[in-house]
Amino acid sequence: MSGGGLYSLATIGAKDVIDNATPSVLSALNSIQKPDGAHWCFSDMGCADGGTSLSLWANAIKQLRLKNDDDIQIVYADQTGNDFNALVQILHGNTQFESYLPTSDNVTVMESGASFYTPILPKNTLHLGFSATAMHWLSQKPCNIANHVHMVGAKGDDLKKFQRQAANDWQNILIHRARELKSGGKLVLVNFCIDEHGQYLGNTGGVNMFNNFNSIWQQFLENNTITESEYAAMTLPQYYNTVEEFSAPLLDSASDAYKAGLRLVDIETAVIACPFAEDFKQHQDAAKFAKEYIPTIRSWNESIFFGALNSDRPIAERQQLIENYYGQYEQQVRDAPEGHGMGYVHAYMTIEKI
Ligand SMILES: C[S@@+](CC[C@H](N)C(=O)[O-])C[C@H]1O[C@@H](n2cnc3c(N)ncnc32)[C@H](O)[C@@H]1O
Repeated sequence: MSGGGLYSLATIGAKDVIDNATPSVLSALNSIQKPDGAHWCFSDMGCADGGTSLSLWANAIKQLRLKNDDDIQIVYADQTGNDFNALVQILHGNTQFESYLPTSDNVTVMESGASFYTPILPKNTLHLGFSATAMHWLSQKPCNIANHVHMVGAKGDDLKKFQRQAANDWQNILIHRARELKSGGKLVLVNFCIDEHGQYLGNTGGVNMFNNFNSIWQQFLENNTITESEYAAMTLPQYYNTVEEFSAPLLDSASDAYKAGLRLVDIETAVIACPFAEDFKQHQDAAKFAKEYIPTIRSWNESIFFGALNSDRPIAERQQLIENYYGQYEQQVRDAPEGHGMGYVHAYMTIEKI
């Protein structure tokens, strides 16, 4: 992810998704029992710079304060490579984002570099675990995909390998959360999905964003701008589960997650329109749309594509290739803006530990 608070500035849509999940979080909180005087413990897994979830936590604190002023601890967790400096600055109110922290009594935050594929908190300590738009990142890439850069374009054995990896990863995430949740605690997880209409991120009608990523890299391959091995390494280590795939370990009494006490309370899908494409409908300025839209894509896939380029190339050459790649995408949007956009397609899940 891009650093320096740029993530939250570039990803207005991700904040819309979290705002859409806020009623589920407030409702989950209402149902969790906690002895008076004990402190609340929450986690925000895959938090990035924390800017997109500020309103969510502000609303949660506001709701809890209607009852009492018990201490609240929020643990922000992300991978070790995350920009934790930006997270700290944003949370402590040192940026243009309005943070709840400086004005909230008895609320403390902790920053953790623990992956959601590992324990984040001690056993039986968590009341509510939250995560948005993060758990599609697999713990490892099972293979490179032939003729595509994403599992949405994978077929045959490649697809099966991604399915297996994703099922294991999902179970693993759940088992770690089951251990840290208190009995009666909840998870509200908001994850990219392939919905019941076959829609997914950037594929909600119009141009298919992932096919476009792929076709531009294929052009670069055809004109020898990149090599076969560089193209192969462009495969993104992501998987978008269906509702059935998310639900399976929570409904199957033989699964480890089920045996650990996790039960599905609710799952539904929703599409949040691309905010940049929506704005374009009003202003009709294709150049403005292209300039605003491309950074939101770059914020999450640039590092993977950059890493796929051969390290024998000088850094400046790799950087120029990346600029040319996104420049080409931007040019396409400028020339024919209709149908472009990154609509967000998510499964919103509430899970309980019995
Ligand atoms: C698209 S951002 C989402 C940020 C924020 N939750 C939001 O919805 O705006 C995805 C985040 O997931 C994090 N992430 C990816 N794999 C992770 C892992 N295994 N453990 C923790 N965080 C991870 C990335 O570092 C990144 O910050």
